[in-house]
Amino acid sequence: MNIDPSMTHRLLRAAALGFVVFNPETSRFARTAMLDVLDGESPLSLKHYAQTAGSEVSWMPGMRMTDTVRAGRDHTQDVLGCSPFEFFAEDDSAARVFSLAMTEISTPVIAEAVLAIEPDGARTVVDVGGADGAFVAHLLKMHNQLSGVVLDLPQAMSGVESESRRRSLQDRITGVAGDFFREIPSADIYLLKFILHDWDDESCRQILTNVHTSMGPRARLFVVDMTTDDGSVEAAMMDMGMMAAFTGQERNTDHLRSLLASAGLRTVRTSRLHQPYIVIEAMPLDVEP
Ligand SMILES: C[S@@+](CC[C@H](N)C(=O)[O-])C[C@H]1O[C@@H](n2cnc3c(N)ncnc32)[C@H](O)[C@@H]1O
Repeated sequence: MNIDPSMTHRLLRAAALGFVVFNPETSRFARTAMLDVLDGESPLSLKHYAQTAGSEVSWMPGMRMTDTVRAGRDHTQDVLGCSPFEFFAEDDSAARVFSLAMTEISTPVIAEAVLAIEPDGARTVVDVGGADGAFVAHLLKMHNQLSGVVLDLPQAMSGVESESRRRSLQDRITGVAGDFFREIPSADIYLLKFILHDWDDESCRQILTNVHTSMGPRARLFVVDMTTDDGSVEAAMMDMGMMAAFTGQERNTDHLRSLLASAGLRTVRTSRLHQPYIVIEAMPLDVEP
């Protein structure tokens, strides 16, 4: 990579933030253990999350935070000319980084969430807005009888294919390019992870109604999201991202349950993962659990 040594030195000196330390005797910077979080090879990596959070799709709307607080709406359309997902549709590389970022922040949550899902005779799973399909892939690895679909926008499809192959699940996972505001493929299990927080209540109701319409009587939906129940800083900070760039918000458990109910879905179980994450299992209201 072509970089200017003097500028690099000044940047690292100012932005070390504990990731690197400067040794004045050798005039060299050395990495600390904290740098693992930005190292793509590390299992702890949040490299792509840092890249997407530091990119124009996050920062440009963030620059209008004062206006957002005053007006009670995000200013993404004003600064990007489109929504974040429309932005990704026009920029393959930004879309790829975003999907990888979703997998990075999801990995510890998925490891716990899959334990809250008992297939109970289910054969098919659809990961609604599943990005690379990391959630459904983990579930399929645990349950050989399951096959899966990842429904996402066209820009996510290359990631579904490459990640399914990398996980040796290319014969059991199919990517379906579609729009969850229009139609959701039928399955026995529906996964909806980190989706509702992107959207305002009315849009959530539409997505959940489309899930309900596609569900057979014994099908179940698993919603995984953060909640604001415990007043965690993590949920409050993520909420700032939702406020600046999206129409959504982090919600408390009662709010999520009431959205489900408004789409004809009854909560049958709520499992708490590490703070602030939960899994809500839901079924059509007119079916006995
Ligand atoms: C916050 S990410 C969550 C991704 C994944 N479920 C996870 O937890 O890592 C939201 C996902 O919804 C997808 N998405 C947004 N609008 C969509 C739409 N109208 N139809 C289908 N997928 C959509 C995005 O492309 C993105 O992959």
